[in-house]
Amino acid sequence: MNQNRGEFGSMATEQALDLSLPSCRYLLSAILAMEPSDCLLSHARACGGGSITEQAQQFILDHCLSTPGDFHAPYLKNFLKKLITQVECDHDSVLDQFYELYAHYITSFKDDSFGKRDSRICKRISFLFPDDYSELQTCPHSRVLTFPLKCSTNMLEGDTGCSIWPSSLFLSELILSHPELFSNKSCFEIGAGVGLVGLCLAHVKASEVILTDGDLSTLANMKLNLELNNLNVETDALQRNEDTSTVKCLYLPWETASESQLQDIMPNVVLGADVIYDPVCLPHLVRVLTILLNQTNPNSEREHENGEHYYNGVTDRSDGRYKPVNYDGYNGQPKEAPVAYIAFVIRNIETFNYFLSLGDQANLDIVDLTDSLKPMNLLPYMQSYNQADIKLLRIICRRTNQTIVT
Ligand SMILES: C[S@@+](CC[C@H](N)C(=O)[O-])C[C@H]1O[C@@H](n2cnc3c(N)ncnc32)[C@H](O)[C@@H]1O
Repeated sequence: MNQNRGEFGSMATEQALDLSLPSCRYLLSAILAMEPSDCLLSHARACGGGSITEQAQQFILDHCLSTPGDFHAPYLKNFLKKLITQVECDHDSVLDQFYELYAHYITSFKDDSFGKRDSRICKRISFLFPDDYSELQTCPHSRVLTFPLKCSTNMLEGDTGCSIWPSSLFLSELILSHPELFSNKSCFEIGAGVGLVGLCLAHVKASEVILTDGDLSTLANMKLNLELNNLNVETDALQRNEDTSTVKCLYLPWETASESQLQDIMPNVVLGADVIYDPVCLPHLVRVLTILLNQTNPNSEREHENGEHYYNGVTDRSDGRYKPVNYDGYNGQPKEAPVAYIAFVIRNIETFNYFLSLGDQANLDIVDLTDSLKPMNLLPYMQSYNQADIKLLRIICRRTNQTIVT
């Protein structure tokens, strides 16, 4: 869990709070991302130096709830109730506006009417960059990058693709922390869900962003999110587009994706977040990965005596950034072989081991990068997400070593 340091402790109780204070930025970001109420209360306490002071309450009113129409009513109602209860329990005074706001929510929205309302909510995910962050191309004018995302309150909606899963938060942090791995590269995501990873890829200027999913309602929601974030959506797989504000959204169920369809794509980087969970789908997923990663100019491969295909180059894995290289790129220039980054949570070790064995049979080289390629912690306010829960695999189409998951 992220620890909130409350570094502005007693000072904060004496002066008006503003967004220059990390604890205040965390509180605002947590409310926008619709973090659980307990997380909001802990940030509010940190703002007040240990308790939810009147200054902290005023900050919430002025900066976090100034446009209450933007919030999901049940979420806000629940937060207001918990906040009022907490402040009263601490024997501090609750600002009158909170009672008024809470009364408004109780009378305007009955609990039974919530159920009938749209189950879609809008979470705003903010990535907070450290002050010494030097990759200025990522966030030249601001230390905060916020993406609004429509998602569902039902985690199973859209075959699970209408919710934000922790591995996509991890991949997003990875992309923003290491833009050099993705910038100017053609990036292809499988099981892309709400589209957050694609937004980050577009942000770091991937030369092409192709997002795919096997669920049509997920795909529709994803397109909505891309447009909400001012990107253009293209649905023609073959259309080449130089415009980096255009993202392709394709329907791609792993079971029926044809070899020729996948071979037309030729990405440099394949990404997947939380896609290793259903054993029934895994053979299809591995087949898709194998085709995508096995794409090179036919001349760039040579066949070993034992019949295995190898890229004719070297690999550099000194810094965990594995670069399989071949020398048959355009005009004889070095050309990197396609690589996949798959982030996942091990929920069932047997399912994971099944994935590894299928990958092994398909001649995929699967390396655990969890300890060697770490993203920055750009979501320090998000107590519902723990970067340490996520594992990262790098996969190429070549068998060189064993995978050790620690
Ligand atoms: C757990 S969700 C992860 C979504 C997103 N990557 C994230 O991490 O937030 C799994 C995603 O994989 C997609 N998916 C599951 N099985 C699939 C299949 N057989 N073919 C294509 N997509 C599939 C689902 O529609 C869903 O979007």
